[in-house]
Parts: sequence; structure tokens; C-alpha cells
Amino acid sequence: MSVAINLVINGYQHAIALDDPRVTLLDLLRDRLHLTGTKKGCDRGQCGACTVLVDGRRINSCLSLAASLDGAEIHSIEGLADGETLHPVQAAFIAQDGFQCGYCTPGQIMSAIGLISEGHAGDDPERVRELMSGNICRCGAYQGITEAVLAAQKRMAEKDDGGARQTGAA
Ligand code: FES
Ligand code: FES
Repeated sequence: MSVAINLVINGYQHAIALDDPRVTLLDLLRDRLHLTGTKKGCDRGQCGACTVLVDGRRINSCLSLAASLDGAEIHSIEGLADGETLHPVQAAFIAQDGFQCGYCTPGQIMSAIGLISEGHAGDDPERVRELMSGNICRCGAYQGITEAVLAAQKRMAEKDDGGARQTGAA
């Protein structure tokens, strides 16, 4: 049984005919759309390697059925950079040594972006660690990851603040 869905993925409209209604968003991205930046770690919701944003919220794509997401807007790691210019969270992960092997990194970065946009990051490392705890790093790069989230959060807040001042917004 084929299931027709429409998704906007990294700004591009996709009309997709799923030949199997049980396919997960993770397998759709990786195996069918060849967006392999999103990683499969555990495939059971325990590691966070597969984190993407769905309508702005971070989710484990290995636990989400693609068929249930008709009309959703998906953001994955491939859509972050603007040409050669990295997203501030990507740049912060590099500047703060937020990775070693890099396997967990796309999920960490997408989770960090979700966390920052939720407005929960603040400046407390312990809180950041807690709110990023769904993303496991087998290399143990947690200190750099936490520092990267804090640095990116600060930079993005300053940028927003600068923009608001320039436009006279409250
Ligand atoms: Fe999805 Fe591990 S692969 S949580
Ligand atoms: Fe290797 Fe996180 S950098 S698993």
C-alpha cells in the first residue's frame, strides 16, 4: 500500500510516495532521500544521533513514522549552512572542540538548535547538560558540547539583540 505525503525538507518541497507506511523519518531521510548527515545510532530512541527538527521541535527521527508527518517542515543538518557560512551552532562546535569522531555531532547540533530556540539554554552549564542529556556521545566530548551550546546561545542572543536595536524593536 502506497502512502502519499508532502514534506518541506530544508526549505524544499518533497512529494513522496511511501511504499511502506512503516518507514521511519530517519530511513526516509537517509535511505530514500540520501540525506545521510542524520545518523542512525541505536534506532530505538536512546542515543539522539538521529535528532532533526520537525516544525521547530527536536525529535528522534528513528521513532517517527514518516507517514504521520504529512505537511510537516523538517530541518536536518544538511540545511544549516548558508553556502560556505556555517550556522552559529556548527561554528561553535568547531571552536569549542565539541566532537571527536563526529558520529553523534549532527544530532547534537540539531538538538542544540532546538534547545536554543526553545529559549531554555540560559547560561547554566548544568542545565544545558540536562537538556542535552538525550544525546549520547560515546567519545565523551561533553565538556566541549556544553561549551559550544553556551557559546552559540550567547552569540545568537547578541545577534538577535543587535538586530532588535537596529530595527528599534522591543
Ligand atoms: Fe534514534 Fe538513536 S538512532 S535515538
Ligand atoms: Fe564521537 Fe560523539 S564525537 S560519538
